[in-house]
Amino acid sequence: MRVDFTGKTVVITGASSGIGSEFARAFAAKGCRLIMVARREDRMRELAGELGVPCEILTADLSREEECNKVIETIAGQGAFALINCAGFGLLGATVEHSIEEELGMIDLNIRAVHILTRRFLDLRRESGSGAILNVASCAGLLPAGPYLNTYYATKAYVASFTQGLAEELADMKSGIYVGALCPGPVYTEFTKVARGKEWASALTPEKVVSYAVKKMEKGKKLIVPGAGVRFGLFGTRFLSRHRTARIIGFGQRSRVEE
Ligand SMILES: NC(=O)c1ccc[n+]([C@@H]2O[C@H](COP(=O)([O-])OP(=O)(O)OC[C@H]3O[C@@H](n4cnc5c(N)ncnc54)[C@H](OP(=O)(O)O)[C@@H]3O)[C@@H](O)[C@H]2O)c1
Repeated sequence: MRVDFTGKTVVITGASSGIGSEFARAFAAKGCRLIMVARREDRMRELAGELGVPCEILTADLSREEECNKVIETIAGQGAFALINCAGFGLLGATVEHSIEEELGMIDLNIRAVHILTRRFLDLRRESGSGAILNVASCAGLLPAGPYLNTYYATKAYVASFTQGLAEELADMKSGIYVGALCPGPVYTEFTKVARGKEWASALTPEKVVSYAVKKMEKGKKLIVPGAGVRFGLFGTRFLSRHRTARIIGFGQRSRVEE
């Protein structure tokens, strides 16, 4: 499958920061019309001002089901070709130290919003038989467990699994709609600040992640893992037990927890 984004309308959630902002820049460079979604309107307005392509800004808290539905209702009829589900966050620290409300908010955003938007965007595109959805999971979603970033790892496992399964179903149906999961390792964004932890010792830039992702999407790749080091690390876990892998990850994530 080849996917051509040139001049199309692309919806990007989490466009106010980090990887989502970078997707906005990348698709603007392809002459796309953008629909940007996040809570911080000022950030999106500032970015839109730099891009030089038509941009619509939708302010929404996607952890709320009714706001996800409102986004879909707003974009229906606008011929949006692609959806990039990028909004998400994590919380560093022991699970029992987090408030259950914050954890449920994470599940609502990282899982429920991605599920609702993916399903409803597919409904919008099904008749045309073309379009594209990229769900930003994480390499966390391809690993057994992530102690001290625990709920986050579990949410990303859902996103990776759901997206990969959906992509296979669409392939069986010979659908022209592309569905893929992006699974980056560490990336320098606002993620760590939001997660209330210490910055990654080493990470990729959002520019690198997004330019790699867009190239792979254009080739129809269903599972996209940027960074040779991350791919090598994931390969290495095949030789370890799930328990051992989770212990190693836990050691790393615990060292990032602010005292
Ligand atoms: N950075 C990494 O190391 C890394 C690695 C793998 C995967 N990822 C994934 O990449 C995606 C983007 O994260 P990032 O690294 O770019 O972090 P980021 O800079 O913190 O960006 C997160 C984005 O999500 C939006 N968002 C958060 N809560 C929201 C809500 N309730 N409703 C709507 N939008 C919301 C934020 O916008 P507002 O605050 O304006 O709403 C922001 O635009 C996430 O799904 C993350 O899990 C990140």
